[in-house]
Formats: sequence, structure tokens, C-alpha cells
Amino acid sequence: MRKPLIVGNWKMNNTTAESVDLTEKLKRLIKDMAVVEVVVAPPFTSLDKVRDAIKGSNIKLGAQNLFWEDKGAYTGEVSPLMIRDLDCEYVIIGHSERREYFKESDEIINKKIKAALRNKLKAIVCVGESLKEREEDKTMQVIESQVKKGLQGLSLSEAKELIIAYEPVWAIGTGRNATPAQANEVHTYIRKLLSQIFNEGIASNIKILYGGSVKPSNSAELMSEKEIDGALVGGASLEADSFAEIVRSACMV
Ligand code: PGA
Repeated sequence: MRKPLIVGNWKMNNTTAESVDLTEKLKRLIKDMAVVEVVVAPPFTSLDKVRDAIKGSNIKLGAQNLFWEDKGAYTGEVSPLMIRDLDCEYVIIGHSERREYFKESDEIINKKIKAALRNKLKAIVCVGESLKEREEDKTMQVIESQVKKGLQGLSLSEAKELIIAYEPVWAIGTGRNATPAQANEVHTYIRKLLSQIFNEGIASNIKILYGGSVKPSNSAELMSEKEIDGALVGGASLEADSFAEIVRSACMV
């Protein structure tokens, strides 16, 4: 049985004061929802303050990115050691915005996943097709390539610390979510790939989240699908009420 996981990706939003305020509100709203695992991923600059704010609550901390080396002359980058030092348990890797704006390739993403796992961080690995790729019927091909290249060379014990997020690029921030059936179909395919790459036992324990315009009005329906183990939420995670509603919908499944 995979415990539902809801992750709030705040992206490049919120000052430290706004981050603490959002965290405090969220803490109150979801304090009785322990059947769901909840993670927030604030910007780097707010990690320290949010770490303090979530103490004693059921909220865990994640980072939105990391560099693949532990330290060195890499101006402007943040290392896995630094993230661990702030008590992050999770890190998002390979988000489509990083693939698009920062030209992160599957090879770079693979290095980052290895760096995260080597440093005992749980890696939330994002994959997803563009609108053009979906229209050309290439969804499964794209997913297969991203999953296989991204996860290349991981050991079975490392694989246990993986989480996959299926995020169709056309659904991110557009208000247009994949239908539950569309998402479930891709999730089923991802799980099949995971059992080929690792084994069935490992694959059946890896959580596969859906992301892309998840909101209170569609989360229950998405979460009721067998292969959808939770959500990676962008826009709707910036409001405590809407994020709490999404967490609540995951409590029902
Ligand atoms: P969205 O973003 O919920 O705003 O569509 C999801 C994500 O990018 O993780």
C-alpha cells in the first residue's frame, strides 16, 4: 500500500515572510490529515525559515533543485549537502521548467538524481511530454526515453528512494489538466518501465505522482485512479486553503 503523497512546488514565489505565513496557515489546516504525506518545496531562500516553521507538524521539507557535486567552484549552485543541512528530505529533479529554461538534459538529470540519492535525499523525478509530442502520438516514447535515461545506473536500494512525477508539459500552469484516465494510462506505463528497469517488487513501491493544473475541483477524481499516488501541485499550493483541500481529497482514497 503506497501512502498518498502531496507535494507543493512553490516555484519562484514567496519571500521568507510570505513563506512562513503560508506554512503557518497550512499547518493549522492539515494538522489532522496524517494519512497523507505532505511536502512543501519553497525557494532555497525560504528553506531555513520554513524548516523552523514546520517543526512538530506533519509537513516535510523539499528543495526544488540541486547541483550534482557536493561542493566546489560552481558559482550560484546549491549542493545536496547544503540541502540536507537544512533538513530537506526531498528534492524535485528534472522539472519541465528546468528542462526548458535551463536546458537540463536527461544526462544532467541522471547526475542530479545520483547526487540526491548518494546524499540520502528522496528524489522526485519529473517526466512529461509536450503538447506537440502528445498530438503526434509520441507520449509513451518520450516517457520511456526520459525514464530510462534519467534512471540509468541506479542500484535497487537507490531505487527505493525514488518518486516519479508525471507532468505533461501542456498541463503545467495552463488550467488544463490531463484527464484521470489519460494520467492513469501513463502512470501504468511508467510502473511497467520501472519493473523492467528494477524489478516488480521495487516498482510496486515507487510512488507515481501526477502534476499539471491539480486543483481542489479535480484532485479527488485524479487521486481515485489506481496508479495515481498523489500530486505535485504548483499554482494551487500557493494558497493554504486550496492546497489543504487537495491534501484532504487524498485522505479519502
Ligand atoms: P501547476 O504546476 O500545478 O501550476 O500546473 C505543477 C508543477 O509545475 O509542478
